[in-house]
Amino acid sequence: MKVTGTLVICLWLVMAIAARADMDPILDTSGQPLSRGVEYLIKPAIANDGGNFTLVDRNGSCPYYVGQEDANSTGGIPVTFSPYMEDETVVMETRNFKIDFSGNLTCNQSTTWKIGDNDTMTESRLIVTGDNSTLQNYFYVHTGPEVLLNGSYGLRWCPSQLCPYCRFDCGYINVLIENGTRLLYLNDTSAFPIVFERLNIL
Ligand SMILES: *[C@@H]1O[C@H](CO)[C@@H](O)[C@H](O)[C@H]1NC(C)=O
Ligand SMILES: *[C@@H]1O[C@H](CO)[C@@H](O)[C@H](O)[C@H]1NC(C)=O
Ligand SMILES: *[C@@H]1O[C@H](CO)[C@@H](O)[C@H](O)[C@H]1NC(C)=O
Ligand SMILES: *[C@@H]1O[C@H](CO)[C@@H](O)[C@H](O)[C@H]1NC(C)=O
Ligand SMILES: *[C@@H]1O[C@H](CO)[C@@H](O)[C@H](O)[C@H]1NC(C)=O
Ligand SMILES: *[C@@H]1O[C@H](CO)[C@@H](O)[C@H](O)[C@H]1NC(C)=O
Ligand SMILES: *[C@@H]1O[C@H](CO)[C@@H](O)[C@H](O)[C@H]1NC(C)=O
Ligand SMILES: *[C@@H]1O[C@H](CO)[C@@H](O)[C@H](O)[C@H]1NC(C)=O
Ligand SMILES: *[C@@H]1O[C@H](CO)[C@@H](O)[C@H](O)[C@H]1NC(C)=O
Ligand SMILES: *[C@@H]1O[C@H](CO)[C@@H](O)[C@H](O)[C@H]1NC(C)=O
Repeated sequence: MKVTGTLVICLWLVMAIAARADMDPILDTSGQPLSRGVEYLIKPAIANDGGNFTLVDRNGSCPYYVGQEDANSTGGIPVTFSPYMEDETVVMETRNFKIDFSGNLTCNQSTTWKIGDNDTMTESRLIVTGDNSTLQNYFYVHTGPEVLLNGSYGLRWCPSQLCPYCRFDCGYINVLIENGTRLLYLNDTSAFPIVFERLNIL
């Protein structure tokens, strides 16, 4: 009985360690793991598919939306990643984190990304800012056939690490164009392909 119990615990430990070892870190454009608190630009993986990710003033009022620069602009606002688990210093596949824009405080509100409610104009769930204390803040990096460029990274909203048995209407982050403005929104089937470029190389 005691031996069986120990065996079960051992097996469980081996499986837990194997699961951890299976997970890959997400890499930036220089091949280094994405690290907590470090600034990165999020850029399209495909040239001319819009520009760097930024805050978008959609309607002349706060809070701002999350979107993309035009393909030919030179802008973009860097982001930082905060993994949900306090002890995780790098971003791993399928692990939840929050994303914050660095340094644009025009709205005097949180610049943490979150999934908004169904927007009446676009009939989509857009990515907004303004609130950093909800399950709607938690994303992870996805790789797989849903990412519209084979072998590249996409983002997925799904806070399943925070609540493994909850049912969420999860989705991939894709880009829609409203009157020429590129906005991020939740798509059931496809993710916009991106890369992460580290800004301050130490
Ligand atoms: C994106 O950021 C890079 C800096 O890494 C800059 O050189 C480039 O012009 C920006 N591109 C766009 C389209 O905003
Ligand atoms: C912040 O972002 C908004 C929307 O893109 C822009 O209008 C504003 O100039 C930015 N402010 C700063 C300080 O970068
Ligand atoms: C734009 O702002 C106006 C006035 O604040 C508001 O009534 C309208 O719903 C907003 N539209 C969008 C698309 O957010
Ligand atoms: C970017 O520049 C190219 C070449 O100058 C032009 O064909 C294209 O329309 C421009 N794209 C945007 C979004 O302004
Ligand atoms: C920002 O908002 C906080 C409350 O949320 C307020 O106390 C503070 O005065 C505001 N700052 C500015 C510059 O408006
Ligand atoms: C959430 O946002 C508020 C307002 O910007 C900020 O004061 C607070 O430190 C943020 N909390 C976290 C955990 O990031
Ligand atoms: C948003 O609402 C519209 C109109 O009610 C509906 O057609 C659409 O399916 C909804 N979209 C989402 C993502 O819930
Ligand atoms: C993506 O790569 C996989 C494996 O290399 C391949 O089976 C699949 O057909 C590719 N899909 C596309 C759309 O290129
Ligand atoms: C986009 O354009 C349509 C048609 O011109 C207009 O009704 C709508 O208000 C515009 N949306 C925004 C957010 O500016
Ligand atoms: C999801 O993205 C795909 C590819 O960009 C597009 O064909 C499809 O219409 C999108 N679905 C929704 C509901 O926007």
